Amino acid sequence: SQRQYNLILVSRPEPSVVLVTLNRPNALNALSSPLFQELNQALEEADKDDTVGAMVLTGSEKAFAAGADIKEMKDKQFADVFKNKFLENWGEIASLRKPVIAAVSGFALGGGCELALMCDIILASPTAKFGQPEINLGVIPGGGGSQRLAQVIGKSRTMEMVLTGRMVSAQEAASWGIVSRVVADGEGEVVKEAVAMAKEIASKSQIAVQAGKEVVNAAYELNLAEGLRLERRLFHGLFATNDQKEGMSAFSEKRKPNFTHT
Ligand code: HXC
Repeated sequence: SQRQYNLILVSRPEPSVVLVTLNRPNALNALSSPLFQELNQALEEADKDDTVGAMVLTGSEKAFAAGADIKEMKDKQFADVFKNKFLENWGEIASLRKPVIAAVSGFALGGGCELALMCDIILASPTAKFGQPEINLGVIPGGGGSQRLAQVIGKSRTMEMVLTGRMVSAQEAASWGIVSRVVADGEGEVVKEAVAMAKEIASKSQIAVQAGKEVVNAAYELNLAEGLRLERRLFHGLFATNDQKEGMSAFSEKRKPNFTHT
């Protein structure tokens, strides 16, 4: 991307993968409004770019993100945050069509934990620590943490996290299902693994990948009968794509598919 960003770094570790790195090291990647604007812009640009198949979102070794920016929020009044829809633009990430993989090292707290939960897959380094410490600040999660955690880890564990603010280790997060797995120890390892996974996803039919993301997300929004119907209809719809013909022909001809994303 040609755009100039100040609070994030945007790179192409693979031709088909965009890597966004939160880059406010002196504030442990606290998610200020300007940072979130840049993040949304970079991800939306990648989402529109036909050459990109998947995105990776990461922070630093010490912190994925230590939350919304407390110094920015401290003096805000109800009237400001309500009228100006404070932090409502956070939801934009959830409407991206392409998959976003979070590569989490260090602190993922408050809005940082919620940001990871908005991604489609979370990989954790053994140093990752997840928490919703808002209760210690006299507030509650505001970026979806109470809802998304409850869907993923159930009521009792979510209540414990939200009401005590306790941080959960990478191992615990894996056993609870917050993350899909904990990668090997080592600097940069989690980003390497996430980029490899993104590259793998980008090698598939993008139409099928986007349909797959849509139906999995529907499982969290629709009842079972509606979700099953949506899945079946999208599955039917994929028979109108060249990629379905190519994928199934390639299997029959014992060769690798060459998807054209059409
Ligand atoms: C603003 C932050 C910050 C934050 C850290 N910093 N977290 N600034 N907002 N969320 C700043 C510190 O003020 C400090 O700046 C610098 O980053 C380094 O942090 P330290 O505290 O010195 O580091 P350390 O002692 O290693 O402690 C790490 C930490 C602690 C345990 C992660 O920083 C911490 O508790 N942070 C706050 C976590 C939190 O409560 N998050 C939830 C926020 S509320 P200076 O200038 O002093 O060097 C939220 C609401 C979500 O997220 C709503 C979403 C819609």
